[in-house]
Amino acid sequence: MTHKDFIPEKEPKHISSGKAAWQSPSNIALVKYWGKRENQIPANPSISFTLTNCHSTTTLNYSRRTEEQKAEDFEFDFYFEGKAKEDFKPKIQKFFQRIEKFCPYLKDYKFEIFSENSFPHSSGIASSASGMSAIALCLMDLEKELYPAITDEYYCRKASFLARLGSGSASRSIDGGLVVWGEHDKIQGSSNEYGISFPFAVHDIFKTYRDTILLVDKGEKQVSSTVGHDLMHGHPFAANRFKQANENLDKLITILESGDTSAFIKIVESEALTLHAMMMSSQPYFILMKPNTLQIINKIWTYRESTGIPVCFTLDAGANVHILYPEKHENEILEFINNELVVYCQNGHYICDRVGDGAKKL
Ligand code: PMV
Repeated sequence: MTHKDFIPEKEPKHISSGKAAWQSPSNIALVKYWGKRENQIPANPSISFTLTNCHSTTTLNYSRRTEEQKAEDFEFDFYFEGKAKEDFKPKIQKFFQRIEKFCPYLKDYKFEIFSENSFPHSSGIASSASGMSAIALCLMDLEKELYPAITDEYYCRKASFLARLGSGSASRSIDGGLVVWGEHDKIQGSSNEYGISFPFAVHDIFKTYRDTILLVDKGEKQVSSTVGHDLMHGHPFAANRFKQANENLDKLITILESGDTSAFIKIVESEALTLHAMMMSSQPYFILMKPNTLQIINKIWTYRESTGIPVCFTLDAGANVHILYPEKHENEILEFINNELVVYCQNGHYICDRVGDGAKKL
């Protein structure tokens, strides 16, 4: 499927009002997306674990507008955790503008969007992946009402496609397990336009992986990801980085099947540090890790060395540390976190998460 397939051709049914609700998870990238071309096309393919406990729950109420109203701009209200949230509206306005060509019915309706996150707002956890994918799924619910013939496959693909136009990583929050977004020559069906379920065999160990997120710094991000992605244009190491991401994804195909956790760790930790190395070597340059991020990384390395337990870290574009490990080591790792790492977390906070099944219709 390409973007042209996502433009509805038939006349929609007449629906006067309705409601849709979805719960959509966050995801954590193993091979990172950092750098994009026009129209939210990624500069390299990425792969992520879909999470379970960090999610957004979104309800969309829609009611048909009059012919005069339809000629005006989009009409919507946005509520976050029950309160009207004006400062989020420009983001949605921009999202609607981007997707209007593919959802020509947007101006036919007035929308009320109610959203909430399972994780604290000021946790430093980006809510764009879960939030944007949840809105995209709700819109697909309306689209299914308008065009009842659309298939489940089309529904999910287009939800991921629309989510991508809201926030790139949101395209990986529809399906569960491992999701690939971005064209890779060894991954048939992979696309720059939407995420797909990782199409190869996956060793059982990776099906129940744990992700404990240590909240090192709950502040606002110093650099928005839009600005960050832009800094990859003209970055002196960009071409090599994009090539490396393709190679790392290639290597992961074999690793994910064999269950080789040592090889997994080498790729995942290197990807996290490379993401931050790109930020540190862009112009302007910036450091998103905090002293406690480094303390935690060093502790993980020492612990892994002395116990042989295959625990590793990854990072998003921020200071928080995601600790990834097999389910069978959960007790030991939680003990290690409580004994040695909690002191580096703001107010001792961390979130226990795990690989999940993808978005759920409510
Ligand atoms: O989806 P965005 O535009 O906020 O970009 C997110 C990029 C990273 O989280 C740093 C990496 C990734 O692949 O998720």
